[in-house]
Amino acid sequence: MIPFSPPRIDDRTIAAVNEVLRSGWITTGPRTKEFEKRLAAYCAVQRVIALNSWTNAAELALRWYGIGPGDEVIVPAYTYCASANIVKHVGAKPVLVDVLDDFTIDPDKVRQAMSPRTKCIIPVDVGGLPARVADIVQVAMDACAWFSPAVNLRVGGSNPQMRLGRALVLADAAHSFGARVGGKPLGVQADITGFSFHAVKNLTTAEGGALAFNLPAPFNADEVYAWFNTMSLHGQSKDALAKNRPGAWRYDVEGAGWKCNMTDIQAAIGLVELERYDSETLPRRKAICERYQAAFSGDARFIPPLLRDAGREGSYHLYMLRVAGASEEQRDAIIQAISARDVSVNVHFIPLPLLTHYRNTGHRIEDVPNAYTQYSREISLPVYYDLADAQVDTVIAAVKAAVKAVMG
Ligand SMILES: Cc1ncc(COP(=O)(O)O)c(C=O)c1O
Repeated sequence: MIPFSPPRIDDRTIAAVNEVLRSGWITTGPRTKEFEKRLAAYCAVQRVIALNSWTNAAELALRWYGIGPGDEVIVPAYTYCASANIVKHVGAKPVLVDVLDDFTIDPDKVRQAMSPRTKCIIPVDVGGLPARVADIVQVAMDACAWFSPAVNLRVGGSNPQMRLGRALVLADAAHSFGARVGGKPLGVQADITGFSFHAVKNLTTAEGGALAFNLPAPFNADEVYAWFNTMSLHGQSKDALAKNRPGAWRYDVEGAGWKCNMTDIQAAIGLVELERYDSETLPRRKAICERYQAAFSGDARFIPPLLRDAGREGSYHLYMLRVAGASEEQRDAIIQAISARDVSVNVHFIPLPLLTHYRNTGHRIEDVPNAYTQYSREISLPVYYDLADAQVDTVIAAVKAAVKAVMG
């Protein structure tokens, strides 16, 4: 049986976690702070905050920007539900738009969907390929005359909506840590870039996420970081480590915050992962994707994914193969036939309007036809560090045999 995406856990990971467990400090502490510093250096930004998931981190970003009832947030229909669920959590309305053939949000569709209520745009780097974030930022800037900031909003002594004066661009980079745009690391394109370190991601902390801050002047990255740090811990003026120092027990609560801090156990896994990310993880994932690419390119039965182009290089998180001309039913039958050969595959993603909650709240798949077309013929193949070349070849053979059996 070839699994879809097991994490890479080896003696180094286990030793790092053991060390934390024996250290006497297991929640947010020195390792989390070290992880944040190293992530910031990797992403070439001043500040990164590490939290317990992409979902809670990105939701906190919406709260920081004062997004709530009456506001709209533009999200691609082709994404995991987290990208839009967070909009619902803060009481705002997700506006779902269609995607391009490379699965990423269509900037023209974003432009058409902009309204005076648009407070945020969430482009998603599906499969690890960066969305066209520069174009999205441009759309937000072009619409700034429409932007009506919430006047009574005060966050950490300032009004972030007044300061930015346009829709916030919050990148869903859950899949794309380590991708590059124009040779630059991911993190310096959007106002805020959110990463996921969930168990199946390229870089994991079991569960976890982070935000890289890239807000333009006059935002101060240290101040923004301080707000997130405090509000991710109930608004407490001191974290548990600071309170733990002798005599330092007293604290205040500056706002009714949330609870989504990262633990040092998670950060210890992340530090090991990060140290070998460029030297081991990315090269191996790239080699696997290239092997698939060589097998499926030039075969008219398949539409291989875009792994990179002139400006972008993805993170090789998913290998999103499409079967040319397959209907949804045929794709499902192909997956059954692949599974019968003991190979696990997946589909990324079921477009949101096909999910009960989104369908029942007025979203229609007919409004995002390309999302449906791409979804109906998509199959994601296994990509992970420990997948050997011989196993990649087994996957390729299983896919080709299954497509032949179903499509003729
Ligand atoms: C595109 C996308 N966005 C967001 C998330 C949510 O990440 P997390 O599980 O860290 O909250 C995922 C998780 O799979 C995802 O695929």
